[in-house]
Amino acid sequence: MTSRSCIVWGNLKMHPASKLLLSYHQMLASEGEAVFRDFGLVVPYPYLHQAKELFASKISVAAQSISEHQSGAYSSQVSGEILQDLDVGTVMIGHSEVRKLGVDVRAQLAIAQSLGMKVVYCIGEDASAYQSGERDTLLAEQLSALSTLDNVIIAYEPIWSIGTGVVASVSDINAAFSVINSYLASRFPSNSSNIQVLYGGSINNNNCLEIFTKTEVSGFLVGGVSLHPEKILEVIRLCS
Ligand code: PGA
Repeated sequence: MTSRSCIVWGNLKMHPASKLLLSYHQMLASEGEAVFRDFGLVVPYPYLHQAKELFASKISVAAQSISEHQSGAYSSQVSGEILQDLDVGTVMIGHSEVRKLGVDVRAQLAIAQSLGMKVVYCIGEDASAYQSGERDTLLAEQLSALSTLDNVIIAYEPIWSIGTGVVASVSDINAAFSVINSYLASRFPSNSSNIQVLYGGSINNNNCLEIFTKTEVSGFLVGGVSLHPEKILEVIRLCS
């Protein structure tokens, strides 16, 4: 038992997910909904409806991105209005795999926030910024895109740690969190103290407990391991 609750979001990325969602649904039935109270899945667009129907709010569901355009003639894109039409109220914005496509993250954030959506906002430095000591400036720059902290969860994900098996050290996470916390405290003095900040990058059932107990993380954004529901269950159990 840990002394605080642990939020876990599993990002299914671009993997076929219909069978996986059924496995999560079976696990929900066998383990009971209380276990998944602080758990959510970030699913590819085509599965949002299936996930919403299957989980009936017992597991939270989020989209992986949102168009930077409000609405209109933008074939292939998915707007905030479409997500709301599907009753999806949460969206992940700023994941490094989306940032590298050159999207306008500020516009995406502005649209999601103007629609009152809950946002999991991902930030994090690449290896060269980490090595050259530019992490702090970069994190502040990414955080400056937020116009409010209402309905926001931050996910700090160093890019060099995503999918590499190299989890950031406790001291790196603590250092990044201190930059994030002090930026938010000076920019949003009235409500920064309640903000939840997750860590993401090569988290699994073997390393999660150490990170959770030795840092201030509010939980985790998990990629690869979310393709294995039994390992996710272990992460949730270990850290709650
Ligand atoms: P990973 O991915 O857990 O596979 O490193 C994390 C993420 O991309 O959010």
